[in-house]
Amino acid sequence: MDRNAVRNAWRLFNLRESPFFQEPLQADTRYPMSLFVGRTADTDRLLGKIERSPASSRQTIRGAVGVGKSTLAQHIKAEAAVAGILSTPAAVSVGSALTVDQLCALVLRSVLDALLGGAANQASLRRKVENAEAVHQASQMVRVYQATTGSSGGLSVAGFGGSAGRATTLVTPPTATPSLMIQGLLQQLVRLAREALGRNAFLVHLNNLENLTESSAERAAQLMRDVRDICFMIEGYHWLVIGTDEAVRTVIDAQPQLASVFSTPPALAPLMKTEFLELLRRRYAALRVEESRPARQPVEPEAASALYELFDGDLRGSLAALDEATGELLGFGAGGSDAPLTLGDMMPFLARWYARRAEERLGKSPVVLLQKLARRHADKPFTLRAVRDEIMKGRNNAAARRFVEELLRFGYVKEHPERLQSGGRPAAQYVIAGAAKLATSLGWEQPA
Ligand SMILES: Nc1ncnc2c1ncn2[C@@H]1O[C@H](COP(=O)(O)OP(=O)(O)O)[C@@H](O)[C@H]1O
Ligand SMILES: [Mg+2]
Repeated sequence: MDRNAVRNAWRLFNLRESPFFQEPLQADTRYPMSLFVGRTADTDRLLGKIERSPASSRQTIRGAVGVGKSTLAQHIKAEAAVAGILSTPAAVSVGSALTVDQLCALVLRSVLDALLGGAANQASLRRKVENAEAVHQASQMVRVYQATTGSSGGLSVAGFGGSAGRATTLVTPPTATPSLMIQGLLQQLVRLAREALGRNAFLVHLNNLENLTESSAERAAQLMRDVRDICFMIEGYHWLVIGTDEAVRTVIDAQPQLASVFSTPPALAPLMKTEFLELLRRRYAALRVEESRPARQPVEPEAASALYELFDGDLRGSLAALDEATGELLGFGAGGSDAPLTLGDMMPFLARWYARRAEERLGKSPVVLLQKLARRHADKPFTLRAVRDEIMKGRNNAAARRFVEELLRFGYVKEHPERLQSGGRPAAQYVIAGAAKLATSLGWEQPA
């Protein structure tokens, strides 16, 4: 179908565009926080901790891929802003830092952006902040090191007008690395936020602890240990570390120095089905073309709910499937061109589409292994050892690990929240994810 036809199909439902976008919500974007549903207990817990620990706090948001971690972090930042706490929309990507200096540079960049963002609305304040010595030093550190982190661009401070010249004339001794400077700089920056802006603290959002390979989890753990005293313990800073269960377990819980200073709440529970339907209703309402009349539902709520169940609480996976199905089928449902799509309309297409994509991504023979795995473990978690012994007979641990890491990366399997306790070292467990159920036609009856 060409793009015009798709757009016209949305119009039939009084919708501007697809309501099934998969981006996290974020204040001041086209995916506004007003679309946020549920999570009141989680919000109260996270904000409560920040309020009760005005000096500093360290918390994690952990949970499965697509359950809503990043969006919750954005919600917390938006709510904390009301209490005078500065933050940036973007997160510090721990996964993209290779050295402690790179991680410190990313943290400094995030704090600088938050500070300048806090001053954005008033030219005189902005000038005052931009001219502060600590801001110059920190932005110079960032400029030197961000070139090495592979996450360049987007630093608002790097481009600031007349004062850039002065910053580059600073003589930086070769020993002045971000990790040596950061502690003092963070202290000065929060003082500046208080004196110049009347804001009392920063909230720093660290993420990308998702489905880490064993070696990158080890590296992230080491980096986080290294910045404990020079970042996490500094007065005036609150830290939110976001990741999947297994990753946060390796990176934080398994490090006594970190576990002792981070609070460890349980994993985020999936939104309830009713909340998922409310999420969709809000999106439909927000994307109306004509405000004077309601949007029509493009998908039957029962069908959306069934997909959400198949994806087992994975919002992003569910939305992606709805986006694919409506992109192809909207306007062509069995009920007529303006009838909502049913599960029967969508499933044959989705099964074909996910199967084809799995083959493109993984290759033919890995897909056969995935089918075998999905059949055996449709409803029960499995370990790497099970993959090696049952699915990849005759192959070694490393091969099984590589296969599972590939499946994790593409979202065909996901981490199971509990480890298997069986005498020796507790073993990580995995489960089949929605995309693999669709690709292998599990969990629904193929029409005869
Ligand atoms: N509480 C919520 N209310 C409304 N939409 C949400 C909520 N949580 C997540 N979403 C939506 O679900 C999708 C996945 O959320 P995201 O925060 O990216 O998950 P995660 O970071 O856990 O992988 C996004 O499109 C996001 O907009
Ligand atoms: Mg996320």
